Amino acid sequence: EKGGYDHFMLKEIYEQPRAILDTYRGRLRASQGIIKMAGVDQNIEKFLNANRIIIVACGTSWHAGLVAEYIFEDLARIPVEVEYASEFRYRNPVITDKDIVIAISQSGETADTLAAIKLAKEKGAFVFGVCNVVGSSIARETNAGAYTHAGPEIGVASTKAFTTQITVLTLLALKLAKEKGVFSESRFHEYLAELENIPAKVERALQTNVLVETIAEVYKDSTNCLYLGRGYNFPVALEGALKLKEISYIHAEGYPAAEMKHGPIALIDEHMPVVVIATNRGHYDKVVSNIQEIKSRKGKIIAVVTEGDETVRDLADHVIEVPDTFESLMPLLTTIPLQLLSYHIAVMRGCNVDQPRNLAKSVTVE
Ligand code: M6R
Repeated sequence: EKGGYDHFMLKEIYEQPRAILDTYRGRLRASQGIIKMAGVDQNIEKFLNANRIIIVACGTSWHAGLVAEYIFEDLARIPVEVEYASEFRYRNPVITDKDIVIAISQSGETADTLAAIKLAKEKGAFVFGVCNVVGSSIARETNAGAYTHAGPEIGVASTKAFTTQITVLTLLALKLAKEKGVFSESRFHEYLAELENIPAKVERALQTNVLVETIAEVYKDSTNCLYLGRGYNFPVALEGALKLKEISYIHAEGYPAAEMKHGPIALIDEHMPVVVIATNRGHYDKVVSNIQEIKSRKGKIIAVVTEGDETVRDLADHVIEVPDTFESLMPLLTTIPLQLLSYHIAVMRGCNVDQPRNLAKSVTVE
């Protein structure tokens, strides 16, 4: 049932090219120049008239929501707020019938997310679900939705759910950008074409596995690790850190790279590995200066860069290359080596990768 892999997590990491394809296939009609999403098409006026989108989720799904915030604002010019479902439900939020609430949940059973949806519905918001498990509670409670079609995710650490959530939300943002007239036909087509390239590029990102395993060997006994990124790669840093802590029990923190000098830089010395996502689009030069700051304090730098990068190669202790793509699609690639890194470190430490201590696959109590 693990398809020849040692763990479900590794199997699910490797399923991502296929899972992403399954998520957009049938929706993306490149030849007709449209994206079909029944749950959106049936409610298109609501989406086009919305004042803002509020995203509610927990854990990795919340990280996908953060990526979506960048996508919706950047591509579709719709204001977005991203909330932990657990905070949203208890803080008397201002919600109106001009708001769209998007709930993201792999399992569709997360108690806090379900409660947040119920609250939003009571206050008159239109609630849209992005779930993986078909017929789950959240899928049933929402007014409309779109499934991720990732297939069953068994490993407690979420992997393919994350990348397929981002894929669905990208489709939604592109569709709205087109409908709102924010996107020209040609820009829309460029995006559709690039989306179709993503599974093959994820496949290439997976080929970093052997290199990543050697890096894991070097840092497996670390007690702390920092993850830094900017822009679209900031939520990827958070997700990389969450993966490492939940399955290897190494303390890890994700930060926007620029926040480093507001505190975490004090932690850096020769024992601190710092994973920096430094792809070539969006704030590249700024991330390079952050890398220099880490280096001058003797931190160990593991950099995720775009293929062919030379600047970071000269500075970093380890360089992991992923293919180039549009800035907004980069999280789909940069997240892959970070999943592999946490996986290998956890295996080397003898941890129970698929069922980490104290954790459940779906958190059905608050
Ligand atoms: O099923 P959900 O997406 O609602 O689950 C949310 C979180 O519990 C989940 O993402 C959790 O953080 C994972 N273990 C992360 O790998």
